[in-house]
Amino acid sequence: MLSLTLELVKNNPKRSNADCLKPFAPSEVKKVRAFHESMWGYYHATPLRELKNLAAWLGVKSIFVKDESSRFNLQSFKALGGSFAIASYLAKKCACPLDFDKLTYESVQEKVGNITFATTTDGNHGRGVAWTARILGFPSVVYMPKGSAQERVDNIRREGAAVKVTELNYDDTVRLLAKDAQQNGWVVIQDTAWPEYEEIPLWIMQGYSTMAEEALEKIPIAPTHVFAQAGVGSMAAAVQAVVANRHYRKEPAFIILEAAEANCFYRSMSQGVPVSVKGDLNTIMAGLACGEVNPLAWEIISNYSAFCLSCHDDVAALGMRLWGNPLGDDSKITAGESGAIGGGVIGLLDKYHNLKTDMGINKDSVLLFFNTEGDTVPKNYLDIVWGGKIPCDFRSDV
Ligand SMILES: Cc1ncc(COP(=O)(O)O)c(C=O)c1O
Repeated sequence: MLSLTLELVKNNPKRSNADCLKPFAPSEVKKVRAFHESMWGYYHATPLRELKNLAAWLGVKSIFVKDESSRFNLQSFKALGGSFAIASYLAKKCACPLDFDKLTYESVQEKVGNITFATTTDGNHGRGVAWTARILGFPSVVYMPKGSAQERVDNIRREGAAVKVTELNYDDTVRLLAKDAQQNGWVVIQDTAWPEYEEIPLWIMQGYSTMAEEALEKIPIAPTHVFAQAGVGSMAAAVQAVVANRHYRKEPAFIILEAAEANCFYRSMSQGVPVSVKGDLNTIMAGLACGEVNPLAWEIISNYSAFCLSCHDDVAALGMRLWGNPLGDDSKITAGESGAIGGGVIGLLDKYHNLKTDMGINKDSVLLFFNTEGDTVPKNYLDIVWGGKIPCDFRSDV
Protein backbone atom coordinates (compact mmCIF):
# COMPACT_ATOMS: atom_id res chain seq x y z
CA MET A 1 0.00 0.00 0.00
CA LEU A 2 1.23 3.47 -0.86
CA SER A 3 0.43 6.24 1.58
CA LEU A 4 -1.29 8.98 -0.35
CA THR A 5 0.63 12.17 0.10
CA LEU A 6 -1.29 14.03 -2.57
CA GLU A 7 -4.91 14.09 -3.70
CA LEU A 8 -6.42 14.83 -7.08
CA VAL A 9 -9.67 16.60 -7.87
CA LYS A 10 -10.98 16.77 -11.42
CA ASN A 11 -12.48 20.02 -12.63
CA ASN A 12 -14.87 20.37 -15.49
CA PRO A 13 -13.40 23.27 -17.49
CA LYS A 14 -16.37 24.91 -19.19
CA ARG A 15 -14.26 27.48 -21.07
CA SER A 16 -17.34 29.67 -20.94
CA ASN A 17 -15.86 33.04 -19.98
CA ALA A 18 -13.52 34.24 -22.71
CA ASP A 19 -13.63 37.78 -21.23
CA CYS A 20 -11.38 36.77 -18.35
CA LEU A 21 -8.67 35.83 -20.87
CA LYS A 22 -8.68 39.25 -22.57
CA PRO A 23 -6.11 40.94 -20.27
CA PHE A 24 -3.75 38.16 -21.39
CA ALA A 25 -4.36 38.47 -25.14
CA PRO A 26 -1.16 38.45 -27.25
CA SER A 27 -1.25 42.27 -27.66
CA GLU A 28 -1.39 42.74 -23.85
CA VAL A 29 1.33 40.16 -23.25
CA LYS A 30 3.51 42.01 -25.76
CA LYS A 31 3.00 45.29 -23.89
CA VAL A 32 3.99 43.70 -20.59
CA ARG A 33 7.05 42.09 -22.15
CA ALA A 34 8.11 45.40 -23.69
CA PHE A 35 7.98 46.99 -20.24
CA HIS A 36 10.11 44.24 -18.71
CA GLU A 37 12.57 44.52 -21.58
CA SER A 38 12.85 48.23 -20.82
CA MET A 39 14.25 47.26 -17.39
CA TRP A 40 17.66 47.38 -18.96
CA GLY A 41 20.39 45.79 -16.84
CA TYR A 42 17.80 43.98 -14.69
CA TYR A 43 15.68 41.94 -17.10
CA HIS A 44 16.90 38.71 -18.69
CA ALA A 45 14.74 35.81 -19.82
CA THR A 46 15.18 32.87 -17.44
CA PRO A 47 16.10 29.40 -18.72
CA LEU A 48 13.68 26.72 -19.87
CA ARG A 49 15.34 23.43 -18.95
CA GLU A 50 14.62 20.16 -20.69
CA LEU A 51 15.08 17.12 -18.44
CA LYS A 52 15.54 14.32 -20.99
CA ASN A 53 16.72 11.61 -18.62
CA LEU A 54 13.93 12.35 -16.16
CA ALA A 55 11.39 12.12 -19.01
CA ALA A 56 12.79 8.72 -20.07
CA TRP A 57 12.65 7.53 -16.42
CA LEU A 58 9.01 8.60 -16.11
CA GLY A 59 8.08 7.18 -19.52
CA VAL A 60 6.87 10.44 -21.11
CA LYS A 61 8.01 12.22 -24.26
CA SER A 62 9.45 15.37 -22.65
CA ILE A 63 9.69 17.28 -19.38
CA PHE A 64 10.41 21.03 -19.42
CA VAL A 65 10.96 23.23 -16.37
CA LYS A 66 10.87 27.02 -16.56
CA ASP A 67 13.47 27.89 -13.95
CA GLU A 68 12.79 31.19 -12.16
CA SER A 69 15.46 30.75 -9.48
CA SER A 70 17.63 33.46 -11.05
CA ARG A 71 14.97 36.06 -11.96
CA PHE A 72 16.22 39.62 -11.27
CA ASN A 73 18.72 38.09 -8.80
CA LEU A 74 15.75 37.88 -6.40
CA GLN A 75 15.34 34.08 -6.65
CA SER A 76 11.71 34.06 -7.76
CA PHE A 77 9.34 35.12 -10.56
CA LYS A 78 7.41 37.42 -8.26
CA ALA A 79 8.98 40.78 -9.13
CA LEU A 80 7.63 40.41 -12.68
CA GLY A 81 4.21 41.21 -11.21
CA GLY A 82 5.17 43.84 -8.63
CA SER A 83 7.34 45.77 -11.08
CA PHE A 84 4.66 45.85 -13.78
CA ALA A 85 1.98 46.95 -11.30
CA ILE A 86 4.08 49.75 -9.78
CA ALA A 87 5.13 50.93 -13.23
CA SER A 88 1.54 50.86 -14.50
CA TYR A 89 0.37 52.82 -11.45
CA LEU A 90 3.04 55.50 -11.91
CA ALA A 91 2.58 55.69 -15.69
CA LYS A 92 -1.17 56.16 -15.27
CA LYS A 93 -0.75 58.73 -12.51
CA CYS A 94 1.69 60.93 -14.38
CA ALA A 95 0.51 60.11 -17.91
CA CYS A 96 3.92 58.92 -19.03
CA PRO A 97 4.87 55.90 -21.13
CA LEU A 98 5.24 52.45 -19.63
CA ASP A 99 8.99 52.57 -19.96
CA PHE A 100 11.26 51.79 -17.04
CA ASP A 101 13.90 54.35 -17.97
CA LYS A 102 11.37 57.17 -18.18
CA LEU A 103 9.85 56.20 -14.84
CA THR A 104 13.19 56.78 -13.15
CA TYR A 105 13.24 60.46 -14.18
CA GLU A 106 12.98 62.92 -11.30
CA SER A 107 10.01 64.54 -13.04
CA VAL A 108 7.97 61.41 -12.28
CA GLN A 109 8.70 61.75 -8.57
CA GLU A 110 7.78 65.44 -8.72
CA LYS A 111 4.50 64.68 -10.47
CA VAL A 112 3.34 61.87 -8.20
CA GLY A 113 4.63 63.38 -4.93
CA ASN A 114 5.31 61.39 -1.78
CA ILE A 115 4.15 57.83 -2.29
CA THR A 116 4.74 54.80 -0.10
CA PHE A 117 4.06 51.43 -1.70
CA ALA A 118 2.76 48.77 0.69
CA THR A 119 2.03 45.07 0.52
CA THR A 120 1.62 41.82 2.43
CA THR A 121 3.81 38.85 1.57
CA ASP A 122 4.99 35.38 2.51
CA GLY A 123 8.37 36.52 1.20
CA ASN A 124 8.83 36.69 -2.54
CA HIS A 125 6.12 39.17 -3.58
CA GLY A 126 7.13 41.66 -0.88
CA ARG A 127 10.76 41.36 -1.89
CA GLY A 128 9.78 42.18 -5.48
CA VAL A 129 7.67 45.18 -4.43
CA ALA A 130 10.38 46.53 -2.10
CA TRP A 131 13.03 46.03 -4.81
CA THR A 132 10.97 47.83 -7.46
CA ALA A 133 10.12 50.68 -5.08
CA ARG A 134 13.80 51.08 -4.17
CA ILE A 135 15.10 51.18 -7.75
CA LEU A 136 12.40 53.68 -8.70
CA GLY A 137 13.18 55.80 -5.63
CA PHE A 138 10.11 55.23 -3.44
CA PRO A 139 9.74 53.97 0.15
CA SER A 140 7.86 50.76 0.91
CA VAL A 141 6.14 49.02 3.81
CA VAL A 142 5.80 45.24 3.90
CA TYR A 143 3.66 43.19 6.31
CA MET A 144 4.38 39.48 6.80
CA PRO A 145 2.34 36.75 8.52
CA LYS A 146 3.39 35.16 11.79
CA GLY A 147 6.10 32.53 11.52
CA SER A 148 7.81 34.22 8.54
CA ALA A 149 11.41 33.03 8.16
CA GLN A 150 14.00 35.56 9.37
CA GLU A 151 15.96 35.25 6.09
CA ARG A 152 12.85 36.33 4.17
CA VAL A 153 12.36 39.29 6.53
CA ASP A 154 16.04 40.26 6.16
CA ASN A 155 15.93 40.00 2.35
CA ILE A 156 13.06 42.49 2.27
CA ARG A 157 14.67 44.85 4.79
CA ARG A 158 17.80 44.86 2.62
CA GLU A 159 15.64 46.40 -0.14
CA GLY A 160 14.93 49.30 2.20
CA ALA A 161 11.38 48.35 3.22
CA ALA A 162 9.94 48.85 6.68
CA VAL A 163 8.88 45.31 7.60
CA LYS A 164 6.28 44.30 10.19
CA VAL A 165 5.71 40.65 11.11
CA THR A 166 2.17 40.28 12.43
CA GLU A 167 0.57 37.72 14.75
CA LEU A 168 -1.90 36.80 11.99
CA ASN A 169 -2.03 34.34 9.09
CA TYR A 170 -1.50 35.54 5.50
CA ASP A 171 -5.11 36.38 4.64
CA ASP A 172 -5.75 38.29 7.87
CA THR A 173 -2.46 40.13 7.41
CA VAL A 174 -3.66 41.24 3.95
CA ARG A 175 -6.77 42.70 5.58
CA LEU A 176 -4.75 44.45 8.30
CA LEU A 177 -2.42 46.02 5.74
CA ALA A 178 -5.35 47.24 3.63
CA LYS A 179 -6.80 48.94 6.72
CA ASP A 180 -3.49 50.50 7.80
CA ALA A 181 -2.82 51.64 4.23
CA GLN A 182 -6.11 53.49 4.14
CA GLN A 183 -5.24 55.32 7.36
CA ASN A 184 -1.69 56.15 6.23
CA GLY A 185 -2.34 56.89 2.56
CA TRP A 186 -0.11 54.05 1.32
CA VAL A 187 -0.59 52.64 -2.18
CA VAL A 188 -1.35 48.92 -1.82
CA ILE A 189 0.36 46.65 -4.36
CA GLN A 190 -1.38 43.41 -3.43
CA ASP A 191 -1.33 40.23 -5.50
CA THR A 192 -4.91 39.35 -4.68
CA ALA A 193 -8.16 41.20 -5.40
CA TRP A 194 -11.26 42.09 -3.40
CA PRO A 195 -14.37 44.15 -4.20
CA GLU A 196 -13.31 47.55 -5.60
CA TYR A 197 -9.64 46.55 -5.57
CA GLU A 198 -8.99 44.87 -8.91
CA GLU A 199 -6.88 47.10 -11.14
CA ILE A 200 -3.56 46.62 -9.32
CA PRO A 201 -3.93 42.84 -8.78
CA LEU A 202 -4.77 42.48 -12.47
CA TRP A 203 -1.61 44.39 -13.40
CA ILE A 204 0.34 42.02 -11.14
CA MET A 205 -1.19 39.02 -12.88
CA GLN A 206 -0.43 40.53 -16.28
CA GLY A 207 3.17 40.99 -15.12
CA TYR A 208 3.48 37.22 -14.71
CA SER A 209 2.56 36.72 -18.37
CA THR A 210 6.17 37.47 -19.30
CA MET A 211 7.24 34.25 -17.57
CA ALA A 212 4.60 32.20 -19.40
CA GLU A 213 5.39 33.81 -22.74
CA GLU A 214 9.14 33.21 -22.37
CA ALA A 215 8.43 29.53 -21.65
CA LEU A 216 6.00 29.04 -24.53
CA GLU A 217 8.20 30.74 -27.09
CA LYS A 218 11.18 28.52 -26.12
CA ILE A 219 9.40 25.18 -25.83
CA PRO A 220 10.07 23.34 -29.12
CA ILE A 221 6.88 21.25 -29.00
CA ALA A 222 3.32 21.93 -27.83
CA PRO A 223 2.84 20.96 -24.17
CA THR A 224 0.13 18.42 -23.40
CA HIS A 225 0.13 19.13 -19.64
CA VAL A 226 0.97 22.41 -17.89
CA PHE A 227 1.44 22.37 -14.10
CA ALA A 228 1.45 25.56 -12.01
CA GLN A 229 1.40 25.99 -8.24
CA ALA A 230 -1.08 28.29 -6.54
CA GLY A 231 -1.14 30.41 -3.43
CA VAL A 232 -3.87 32.96 -4.19
CA GLY A 233 -3.74 31.67 -7.79
CA SER A 234 -2.61 34.86 -9.57
CA MET A 235 0.43 33.28 -11.17
CA ALA A 236 -1.28 30.02 -12.18
CA ALA A 237 -4.21 31.95 -13.65
CA ALA A 238 -1.90 34.20 -15.65
CA VAL A 239 -0.04 31.19 -17.06
CA GLN A 240 -3.34 29.42 -17.76
CA ALA A 241 -4.71 32.47 -19.61
CA VAL A 242 -1.58 32.87 -21.74
CA VAL A 243 -1.71 29.15 -22.60
CA ALA A 244 -5.44 29.28 -23.43
CA ASN A 245 -4.90 32.35 -25.65
CA ARG A 246 -2.36 30.41 -27.70
CA HIS A 247 -5.16 28.18 -29.03
CA TYR A 248 -3.08 25.04 -29.39
CA ARG A 249 -4.56 22.50 -31.77
CA LYS A 250 -5.07 20.24 -28.77
CA GLU A 251 -5.65 22.29 -25.62
CA PRO A 252 -3.08 21.27 -22.95
CA ALA A 253 -4.51 19.99 -19.66
CA PHE A 254 -3.83 22.57 -16.96
CA ILE A 255 -3.10 21.26 -13.46
CA ILE A 256 -3.07 23.43 -10.32
CA LEU A 257 -0.68 22.33 -7.56
CA GLU A 258 -1.36 23.35 -3.98
CA ALA A 259 -0.10 22.92 -0.44
CA ALA A 260 -2.54 20.60 1.39
CA GLU A 261 -2.60 22.86 4.47
CA ALA A 262 -3.81 25.79 2.35
CA ASN A 263 -5.68 23.99 -0.42
CA CYS A 264 -8.37 26.58 -1.18
CA PHE A 265 -8.41 25.78 -4.94
CA TYR A 266 -8.66 22.04 -4.28
CA ARG A 267 -11.64 22.61 -1.98
CA SER A 268 -13.17 25.23 -4.27
CA MET A 269 -12.94 22.95 -7.30
CA SER A 270 -14.45 20.09 -5.28
CA GLN A 271 -17.44 22.28 -4.36
CA GLY A 272 -17.68 24.41 -7.50
CA VAL A 273 -17.55 27.71 -5.56
CA PRO A 274 -14.72 29.59 -3.81
CA VAL A 275 -14.07 28.04 -0.40
CA SER A 276 -11.49 29.38 2.04
CA VAL A 277 -9.16 27.59 4.44
CA LYS A 278 -8.79 29.12 7.90
CA GLY A 279 -6.16 28.72 10.61
CA ASP A 280 -2.36 28.85 10.64
CA LEU A 281 -1.86 27.43 7.10
CA ASN A 282 1.23 25.68 8.41
CA THR A 283 3.33 24.43 5.50
CA ILE A 284 6.96 24.61 4.38
CA MET A 285 5.61 26.01 1.09
CA ALA A 286 5.44 29.57 2.46
CA GLY A 287 4.60 31.09 -0.93
CA LEU A 288 1.58 28.80 -1.24
CA ALA A 289 0.29 29.40 2.30
CA CYS A 290 -2.79 31.39 1.28
CA GLY A 291 -6.24 30.26 2.35
CA GLU A 292 -8.37 32.44 0.07
CA VAL A 293 -8.48 32.45 -3.72
CA ASN A 294 -7.98 35.63 -5.70
CA PRO A 295 -11.47 36.01 -7.30
CA LEU A 296 -9.90 37.18 -10.60
CA ALA A 297 -7.74 34.05 -10.65
CA TRP A 298 -10.65 31.80 -9.67
CA GLU A 299 -12.61 32.97 -12.71
CA ILE A 300 -9.82 31.82 -15.04
CA ILE A 301 -8.81 28.68 -13.16
CA SER A 302 -12.34 27.37 -12.59
CA ASN A 303 -13.19 27.94 -16.25
CA TYR A 304 -10.07 26.50 -17.85
CA SER A 305 -8.15 24.14 -15.51
CA ALA A 306 -8.57 20.37 -15.68
CA PHE A 307 -7.28 19.20 -12.28
CA CYS A 308 -5.98 20.32 -8.91
CA LEU A 309 -3.48 18.34 -6.86
CA SER A 310 -3.36 19.01 -3.12
CA CYS A 311 0.13 18.08 -1.89
CA HIS A 312 1.60 17.58 1.57
CA ASP A 313 4.98 19.04 2.52
CA ASP A 314 6.83 15.82 1.68
CA VAL A 315 5.92 16.32 -2.00
CA ALA A 316 7.76 19.66 -2.02
CA ALA A 317 10.71 18.17 -0.12
CA LEU A 318 10.91 15.30 -2.63
CA GLY A 319 10.85 17.82 -5.48
CA MET A 320 13.74 19.79 -3.96
CA ARG A 321 15.82 16.60 -3.81
CA LEU A 322 14.74 15.31 -7.22
CA TRP A 323 15.47 18.51 -9.15
CA GLY A 324 18.62 19.16 -7.10
CA ASN A 325 20.07 15.72 -7.95
CA PRO A 326 19.45 15.25 -11.67
CA LEU A 327 19.71 12.03 -13.63
CA GLY A 328 22.65 11.76 -16.06
CA ASP A 329 23.40 15.05 -17.80
CA ASP A 330 20.04 16.70 -17.02
CA SER A 331 20.41 20.23 -15.62
CA LYS A 332 20.46 20.70 -11.86
CA ILE A 333 17.61 22.89 -10.68
CA THR A 334 17.80 24.58 -7.30
CA ALA A 335 14.21 24.79 -6.12
CA GLY A 336 12.92 26.19 -2.84
CA GLU A 337 9.87 24.73 -1.12
CA SER A 338 7.16 26.53 -3.11
CA GLY A 339 9.06 26.11 -6.38
CA ALA A 340 9.70 22.39 -6.03
CA ILE A 341 6.17 21.03 -5.69
CA GLY A 342 6.07 20.07 -9.38
CA GLY A 343 9.30 18.11 -9.04
CA GLY A 344 7.74 16.12 -6.20
CA VAL A 345 4.70 15.39 -8.35
CA ILE A 346 7.01 13.97 -11.05
CA GLY A 347 8.60 11.71 -8.42
CA LEU A 348 5.21 10.46 -7.28
CA LEU A 349 3.70 9.95 -10.74
CA ASP A 350 6.12 7.06 -11.10
CA LYS A 351 4.53 5.42 -8.04
CA TYR A 352 0.89 6.37 -8.41
CA HIS A 353 0.09 4.95 -11.84
CA ASN A 354 -3.60 5.68 -11.46
CA LEU A 355 -2.78 9.39 -11.16
CA LYS A 356 -0.94 9.22 -14.46
CA THR A 357 -3.91 7.49 -16.05
CA ASP A 358 -6.42 9.91 -14.51
CA MET A 359 -4.52 12.88 -15.91
CA GLY A 360 -4.00 11.24 -19.30
CA ILE A 361 -0.20 11.17 -18.97
CA ASN A 362 1.48 8.63 -21.24
CA LYS A 363 4.49 8.10 -23.50
CA ASP A 364 3.41 10.92 -25.83
CA SER A 365 3.00 13.52 -23.07
CA VAL A 366 4.97 16.77 -22.97
CA LEU A 367 4.96 18.15 -19.42
CA LEU A 368 5.70 21.76 -18.55
CA PHE A 369 6.49 22.83 -14.95
CA PHE A 370 7.53 26.08 -13.26
CA ASN A 371 10.23 26.21 -10.63
CA THR A 372 9.04 29.47 -9.13
CA GLU A 373 11.79 29.98 -6.54
CA GLY A 374 15.38 29.14 -5.67
CA ASP A 375 16.74 28.38 -2.19
CA THR A 376 15.28 31.50 -0.60
CA VAL A 377 16.04 30.10 2.89
CA PRO A 378 19.38 28.30 2.32
CA LYS A 379 19.44 26.55 5.71
CA ASN A 380 16.03 24.97 5.08
CA TYR A 381 17.20 23.92 1.61
CA LEU A 382 20.24 22.12 3.02
CA ASP A 383 18.28 20.57 5.90
CA ILE A 384 15.91 19.02 3.36
CA VAL A 385 18.25 18.19 0.46
CA TRP A 386 21.34 17.14 2.44
CA GLY A 387 19.87 16.43 5.86
CA GLY A 388 16.93 14.37 4.62
CA LYS A 389 14.41 16.43 6.60
CA ILE A 390 10.74 15.73 5.71
CA PRO A 391 11.22 12.34 4.05
CA CYS A 392 8.61 11.26 1.55
CA ASP A 393 7.24 8.13 3.23
CA PHE A 394 5.79 6.51 0.11
CA ARG A 395 8.83 4.30 -0.31
CA SER A 396 8.60 2.75 3.16
CA ASP A 397 5.18 1.35 2.27
CA VAL A 398 6.12 -0.14 -1.10
C1 LIG B 1 7.73 30.82 -5.01
C2 LIG B 1 6.28 31.02 -5.20
N1 LIG B 1 5.63 30.19 -6.01
C3 LIG B 1 4.31 30.32 -6.22
C4 LIG B 1 3.58 31.30 -5.58
C5 LIG B 1 2.09 31.38 -5.80
O1 LIG B 1 1.71 32.52 -6.47
P1 LIG B 1 0.20 33.04 -6.30
O2 LIG B 1 0.06 33.53 -4.89
O3 LIG B 1 0.07 34.08 -7.32
O4 LIG B 1 -0.67 31.87 -6.52
C6 LIG B 1 4.23 32.19 -4.72
C7 LIG B 1 3.51 33.26 -4.04
O5 LIG B 1 4.03 34.01 -3.26
C8 LIG B 1 5.62 32.05 -4.53
O6 LIG B 1 6.30 32.85 -3.71
